[in-house]
Amino acid sequence: MEKKICIITGANAGIGRQAAEQIAGKGCHVILACRNGKRGEDALREIRESVPDASVELWVVDLGLRKSIINFAEEFSREHERLDVLIHNAAVFNVTQKKRELTKEGIETIWATNHLGPVLLTELLLKKLEKSDNGRVITVSSKGLLAKPLIRVDLADPEFKSKKYSVVNAYYQSKIAQIMYTYWLADRLGDGNVTANCIRVTAVKIDISRHPDLSEFMKRVYAIKARKALSPENMAKAYAELALSSKFKRIRGMYFDENCLEVDSRKYCRDRENIQRVMELTRSYIPELGGI
Ligand SMILES: NC(=O)c1ccc[n+]([C@@H]2O[C@H](COP(=O)([O-])OP(=O)(O)OC[C@H]3O[C@@H](n4cnc5c(N)ncnc54)[C@H](OP(=O)(O)O)[C@@H]3O)[C@@H](O)[C@H]2O)c1
Repeated sequence: MEKKICIITGANAGIGRQAAEQIAGKGCHVILACRNGKRGEDALREIRESVPDASVELWVVDLGLRKSIINFAEEFSREHERLDVLIHNAAVFNVTQKKRELTKEGIETIWATNHLGPVLLTELLLKKLEKSDNGRVITVSSKGLLAKPLIRVDLADPEFKSKKYSVVNAYYQSKIAQIMYTYWLADRLGDGNVTANCIRVTAVKIDISRHPDLSEFMKRVYAIKARKALSPENMAKAYAELALSSKFKRIRGMYFDENCLEVDSRKYCRDRENIQRVMELTRSYIPELGGI
């Protein structure tokens, strides 16, 4: 049987790295879609050490940059006939960030990377997903949204151009947009052979060495949080399950927790008019977005 082809973004660290190893261990061909060649190579080597017959390759792509995503999708489409699983794991969130930052293309970095990037990448790979007998798109949100009940997508100013910047609000705005996008995409795909679902990541241990700017106080906060947090390895099991288990073959438009149990997102996210508005806003950045 042909190997399933799976792209995991941000697969060089944390949950994405563990998911790449687990999914490769289950006999899939895994593409590590990473922005940094060196960090990607290190992950590739570690995965090969731990799963000697792993079929893995590294592709460099910056999910915050439209041009990079287009190049990636074009090259992938030339090399591969189909795509079976696309996991939108990569995201930026640096709690020490105080000021609004822009990508090289001039878009607020968190909005660009955590929301626009996954939408554009899916759109450009949709035809390849449709060639799979069961294409699966998995988006990633955050359980932390439970503590932010008032967060909305700011339709007038998603990039914090004219209001005070908050990295926390920018991050949760992007994660709520991903849930709404998933509902929209699932609806658009109807009962075809491609499904879209979103997973809500719970508190997962972070690698403190990746955040050298953290104050001593924040390091202690993270150390305390880590006592109750899940390991990236355990969280990745849920990614692998949603990606591969036959149980989820026909499941679409759902929001899952770390145990792959369906959980409710808030009413705001499920409201069709809200979803439509968020997707029209998204399309103002991604003109190739079909189906609106
Ligand atoms: N950890 C948690 O407690 C938690 C809680 C809720 C939700 N989540 C979500 O779970 C997912 C994984 O989190 P994690 O804790 O495993 O994060 P992580 O360890 O910080 O890893 C994030 C990955 O995303 C990559 N990335 C960031 N920006 C990118 C870009 N522009 N292009 C390509 N790759 C990029 C990073 O690459 P570099 O190595 O180059 O930076 C890294 O590989 C994220 O979507 C996150 O929002 C995590």
